[in-house]
Formats: sequence, structure tokens, C-alpha cells
Amino acid sequence: MIDLTDQRRDAAERLRDGILELAEYRDPDRQGWTREVFSAVYRESRNWVARRMAAAGLQVHEDTAGNIVGRLSGTDPNAPALVTGSHTDSVDGGGRFDGVVGVLGALEAVQLLRESGQRLRRDLLVVDFLGEESNAFGLSCLGSRAIAGELTRADLDRQDYRGVSLGRAYRDFGLDPGAVLETRWARAAPLHAFIELHIEQGPTLEQRQLPLGIVTAITGIERLVATFMGSPDHAGTRPMYARKDAMVAAAEAVLSVRREGCGAPNHGVATTTRIESESRSPNVVPSLVRMTSEVRSVDSTWLSGVRGRLAEEILVNARNLGVDVEFDWSTDNTVVHAHSGIHDVAAAAADAIGIPWMPIPSGATHDAVHMAALAPMGMIFVPSKAGKSHCPEEWSDFADIATGVGALAQTLTRLDRTELTPQHQPGPN
Ligand code: GLV
Ligand code: MN
Ligand code: MN
Repeated sequence: MIDLTDQRRDAAERLRDGILELAEYRDPDRQGWTREVFSAVYRESRNWVARRMAAAGLQVHEDTAGNIVGRLSGTDPNAPALVTGSHTDSVDGGGRFDGVVGVLGALEAVQLLRESGQRLRRDLLVVDFLGEESNAFGLSCLGSRAIAGELTRADLDRQDYRGVSLGRAYRDFGLDPGAVLETRWARAAPLHAFIELHIEQGPTLEQRQLPLGIVTAITGIERLVATFMGSPDHAGTRPMYARKDAMVAAAEAVLSVRREGCGAPNHGVATTTRIESESRSPNVVPSLVRMTSEVRSVDSTWLSGVRGRLAEEILVNARNLGVDVEFDWSTDNTVVHAHSGIHDVAAAAADAIGIPWMPIPSGATHDAVHMAALAPMGMIFVPSKAGKSHCPEEWSDFADIATGVGALAQTLTRLDRTELTPQHQPGPN
């Protein structure tokens, strides 16, 4: 068994060095620690990650979907592999820990396994998935989505705000979009299990003063682009009662989206991130406005009613203003439950090394959502200071991360010898 306490200080130091070194790969023109998918700095940082994996003794390659994969060979080449990892891209203006902890933490877990003299029976794959964060194409988890066979040809035609397609972005980044779609790991050897270490990104663990969360379910996400069509008019002469103002209808809709999140019976959140008006002149009544919003919940029953409820309220309010609305909905991902067997193994691992934990749902989405299509899936969370994430202040203490790595290493050791049922089952919410 791995003696976590003896090794924890060294592990925390190595994690700090790695996390802060990777953070230096940041877009100098953006706020915070920005390393967006397809950017030049992201390409450079991926070379750093590959070198780091090689230095950890892994055989490294980049797959045709742009994922960096490091393999630690086990003793039985025929046994389905264990997979762990996360992502190293960030949101615009993001922090240093989201995703990074799961990649560098996995390498630290490899180090712990090595120091303990253990050799796993199964191969262990450490993956840095390409582009996990939702991007200008409105799609998250590009790398894990591709290998799960959940990226479609139609997705390649999605355009960013400059009219560049996702397919073009792949090509400019040095990846063949056709090959990306064909990457599908499902066609290769079966996988035994996927477990991802991540920061919580919310305040619960810190508030409960607990060092570890074991994830029960990952939120579903419904995305909406609503287009409001009113009538252009002279802003100085058209009386207020006779306007068809698309901006006012969109503003009402922003509040409807917010009310929807506030009214969720269990966990539910709703956010509007963009309002774009085609009107450039300050003296024209806005006639075409686009609103980008998302709604999330781990309560799939509530989430399934969101489209209907929101469309009705937004339409009624807009029509009262003489404005038409078109809705373009997409499901980023449905609610995905962690595999109860992995949940139980992670819980037993934490108990065995004396780490208090709680079951916890994830309001953020993760590569684990898509990996669940390939293998039984689980996640481990470590605390986030003040629950802050997707912002420069994002922070997790290195000692807490090292604790999470200890739990990850223990969980991997146990998963290596635990048979899991192939279908993934709902865990407790
Ligand atoms: C990723 O962090 C997301 O939850 O969108
Ligand atoms: Mn993340
Ligand atoms: Mn994120």
C-alpha cells in the first residue's frame, strides 16, 4: 500500500513546480492564465506536456484527434487498460488549476506507484485531452468527444465569431479533421476504467472542510442561441409605445434565463454569456440581436423541461414587444452518472488511506462525460479556494492536490485488480 503521508510533501513540491511552470505558457494579450484551444501558446504547451510525460517514463504519442497519450506498460499486455487524465487548455481569462491538476496529478500518481515499487497488471494511459473547454465553436471536450465517436461531421462546420469553421481550426493546428473523426478509440482495444482527478471548482468541499469529493454525476448542459428580430427605426423619433426593439426583448430573455436557474428544485444554473446586436449606430432601434445562454443541472427530469419552459416565456415576452424569436438549441451533454463500482473503489481507497470524503455532483462538465461512453467512469475532486474557478484567482493548495493524487494512485491500484460490470450505472446523486 502507498504510504501517502511520507511522500506527500515531495509530491506537493513537484506538483507546485509543474503547475507553475505550465502556467507560464499563457497568452500575453489576454487576462489571467489564458491557454485557449488552437492557440499558438497551446501548441507550445502541448510539447511541454509531452516532454513531461516522457520524463515520467511514459511512452508518449499524440493521437489523430490531438490528444497526448502517455503509456505506462503493465505486466499483462492483454488486460484492458486503465485510463486517467484531464486537460490543459483554459477558458479565456482562466486559472492555472482547472484540468492541469488531473494531467500533472496523473504523472505524480505514476511517480507514487513507481516509488512504492508497484507494477500494475494493466497498462495505464495518462491522457491530456485536446480542448476540453467550451470554445468559440460552442463545443466542449473536443478530444474526448472525438475518441468516444461523439464528434460529428456537422460539428466540423460549426463557425466561430469570425466565421472560421472548426474543421479549418483543426487543419490550422496541424490536425486532419477527417482523421479526427476517425480516431474513435472504441474501435481499438477495450478499456477497463477511466478516472479523472480535478479541482472541485465550487465551494462545497472547502465549506465542509473535506479534502476529497467523489463524484456521483456530471451535469447536463443545454445551450441556446436565440435570435430576436424586431424592426429598425430612428431612435430619436419612433415613440416608445410603437417600437419593435430586439434588444429589449433580449434583455427580458436574459432575466427569463436567470429565473429558470433560480427556480430549479435541486441543482440548476442558467447563464447568459453573450448579447450581440447587429446595430452599430447608437441612433437606431436595434432590430437583430443574438443571445447565447446555457442551462445546467444534474437533475435530468428538470433539465428535460428547460427548452419548453424557456421558449414559452421568452416568446410571450418578445411578442408583447412586437419582436419575433428563433431558437437554436443544442445539448452539449446529457447528465452522466459515475459508475457506482468506481465510486465504491475510490471511496474504499480514500478510507484505506484515511482521507475523509463526501459524494458530490459536478456542475462543471468534464472529459469524463465522454470517456463514460468508452469505459466505466469516475472522478475525484480536490477543494478549490473560495470555490473560485474559470478566473485568474482559481487556486487549490498543493498539499490538497497531493492528497487527491494519493487517492488517485490508491484508486488506480485497486481498479487494476477489480472487475467492473461493463454498463455504467447511476451512482447516488
Ligand atoms: C468546463 O469547465 C465547463 O464546465 O464548461
Ligand atoms: Mn476542467
Ligand atoms: Mn473549465
